[in-house]
Parts: sequence; structure tokens; C-alpha cells
Amino acid sequence: MTAQADGPLLSVEELSVSFRTAAGETDVVRDLSFELPRGGSLGIVGESGSGKSMTSLAVMGLLPKGGTKRGTIRFDGIDLGTYSERQMRSFRGDRAAMIFQDPLSSLNPYYRVGTQIVEAYRSHRAGVSRREARRVAIEALERVHIHDAASRVDHYPHQFSGGMRQRIMIAMALAMEPELIIADEPTTALDVTVQAQILDLLAEVQSSTGASLILITHDLAVVSEVTENIIVMKEGEMVEHGTTEGIFCGPRNDYTRRLLDAVPRIDDVIGTMRTTDTIATMPGDDR
Ligand SMILES: Nc1ncnc2c1ncn2[C@@H]1O[C@H](COP(=O)(O)OP(=O)(O)OP(=O)(O)O)[C@@H](O)[C@H]1O
Ligand SMILES: [Mg+2]
Repeated sequence: MTAQADGPLLSVEELSVSFRTAAGETDVVRDLSFELPRGGSLGIVGESGSGKSMTSLAVMGLLPKGGTKRGTIRFDGIDLGTYSERQMRSFRGDRAAMIFQDPLSSLNPYYRVGTQIVEAYRSHRAGVSRREARRVAIEALERVHIHDAASRVDHYPHQFSGGMRQRIMIAMALAMEPELIIADEPTTALDVTVQAQILDLLAEVQSSTGASLILITHDLAVVSEVTENIIVMKEGEMVEHGTTEGIFCGPRNDYTRRLLDAVPRIDDVIGTMRTTDTIATMPGDDR
């Protein structure tokens, strides 16, 4: 099958994910279909256990042991189901990147952050020198507004705050120039001001690189400022799908309405961040 430059970047058709448990086979995602255009952004929202992470892990070919998927996932027109494990590994490094809730679990505490970006980069770019990879790493850290990147690149993960570590994970993803970025609850572990900065950064990165973005969260406020479209999931099924504006103005589903009622005005915080331009890059502001 050939790539189709004008089709959607990602198309998910009737995806189901199931686990075999003592009680038998249970579907944790059921018949989910959606498309993500090139350069487009999509929020996946729903309460805990609704199947958001399993959906993204299915796309990345990273379902936990015991999980199986049915349905078709096409990336750039290619059915990922036809890929070998080796092809999926290179897909994950070259074309798609995932950012998780807790950057500490993704960063190795014993290696300098620059070394980790360099290694990740070189493992997917055959023949790139260490020196060139280091240049890419510093540039990526600069792009996520890490002050004094040329020296911070040699620091260890514990020398950064939680918000800064999440910036480093975004930098690591950026270095690979992915076409798709999936961020699964990237701000849940952070305090609200830092959350706004990271969301702002994700939106900025997405528009400057033209990558497509899937942002997963249980919090509708989080996606409202960042993504054009939203899927609302409940118990493994999509209960609502529409533009962010449409869903905020007229949610069709009771469940969505309840999620909306729980929305704190984080967008106000983001508005404040934009106007005062106080992105924390000074060591003293490292939260
Ligand atoms: N390894 C597993 N074995 C069996 N069931 C699992 C496994 N991993 C996840 N599940 C189940 O799959 C369902 C969906 O989980 P998922 O992690 O996708 O939820 P989520 O929407 O991401 O929730 P959260 O907001 O808490 O991250 C849950 O009911 C969960 O218990
Ligand atoms: Mg999850």
C-alpha cells in the first residue's frame, strides 16, 4: 500500500481493545473510529478507565501484555497491522512520538538529559555523529524554552523541576521531527500554572512543526485551548465527537455536560500566561 499525501495522517477504523481476565474477555475500547488530518489536533477526553490510554497505546503498538486489538489503524495510508515489531519500533521513533504523564518514569535518572536525547536521536538516525546529535539536542531544548540550553544539556533529570522535565520530554520528541505527537495526560502531575505553560508549549510546537497532535486528558479544560476537535469517551466507547467549540457550546451528551460542569477556568490562566509572557525559564522559577 502506498502513502497518500492528501488523506488523513491517522485513520482509526472500528478499533476495539480487549483483555483476557479471570472473568473472560472484556473490551476496554469498543468500535472506535476517528480520523486525524495532517497538522490537525484532537483531544481525547473521558473519566478514568474510559479507554483513552489504551486507544493511544493501540495506535503506537504498545498495548500491555494480554491486550489485543481488532480493527484497522492506518498511518499515512499504511495499515499498521501489516508492520513487523521492528517496523513498529522505527515507526515510533521516526514518525510518531508519545509523551506520558510522568517524565521521571521516561527519563533515566543516571544519565544526563542531553545524553538521553542524543542516544534516542542516534538510534533512529543511522550515521549521525554524536556531535551533530548534541547540536540537535541543544536546539530542541532551546525550542522548548529551556534557558541556557548549552549548559543545561549536561544536567541530570533530578536537577530539573517537574515542568522542566516535561519540557525535556517534549524536546526529545521534537528532536525526532515526528508527524504525530501523542501526549497522554502530560500535565496531570504539574501544578496549574506550570500546566498552562506546558499546554501552551504543546500548542506552539504543534503549530510551528506542523505535526498532528493527540492530547489525552480527563479534564475538558485542558483540551479546550489546544485542540480543534474532541472525542469524549465513556466506558470504552465514543459518546461524542465534534469541534471543541461545538462541544463547549452545545454538548449533546449528559456525560459530556457533567465533564463540562467540572471545568475550572484553566483557559483564564493560559490567557494570563500569554499576555504576561512569564514562561518560567529562570532557575529561580523552576517549579
Ligand atoms: N493490563 C490490563 N489488563 C486488564 N485490564 C486493563 C489493563 N490495562 C488497562 N485495563 C483496563 O482498561 C480500561 C481502560 O484503561 P485506560 O488506561 O485506557 O483508561 P484511561 O481512560 O486512560 O484512564 P485514566 O484517565 O485513569 O488514565 C480500564 O478499565 C482498565 O482497568
Ligand atoms: Mg490513561
